Amino acid sequence: MTNERVIALLTAAYNDELETVMNYLSNAIVLDGVSAEEVKDSLDQDIQEELSHARQLGQRLKQLDERPPGSFGFEARQESLQPPERTTDVLSVIEGVLDAENDAIETYRSLIRAARDADDPVTEDLAVTILADEEAHRTEFRGFRREYED
Ligand SMILES: [Fe+2]
Repeated sequence: MTNERVIALLTAAYNDELETVMNYLSNAIVLDGVSAEEVKDSLDQDIQEELSHARQLGQRLKQLDERPPGSFGFEARQESLQPPERTTDVLSVIEGVLDAENDAIETYRSLIRAARDADDPVTEDLAVTILADEEAHRTEFRGFRREYED
């Protein structure tokens, strides 16, 4: 029914969602200034959504007789989303969010293809639903970035 590639991508996506939660949480706390307020509010809202993605991915792994990893299986990758030295550097966080969302979009597109190849429509459907959320986040943060373009 399923295959190794689906499991590997579900696990990678689960890890990415948790790293996103960690970095959105830190950035929403670290940023200062009037122009940061809207970005901080948006990050705070997205944390709940990304956490629910992780939960759904973990539950799907369980349904496939696998399990989501604990922290020992965790590998950090989101270099551009580290909280900036200068706490008013909102643009750096916006760029980091766009990198993370683009990464997530690539992962979910790969998962959709792998699930289709493995004849696993339930995982495919989950990946399509989460992909739609990530594309909506990306659109919102592209809008934020426009405010910083000349
Ligand atoms: Fe997500």
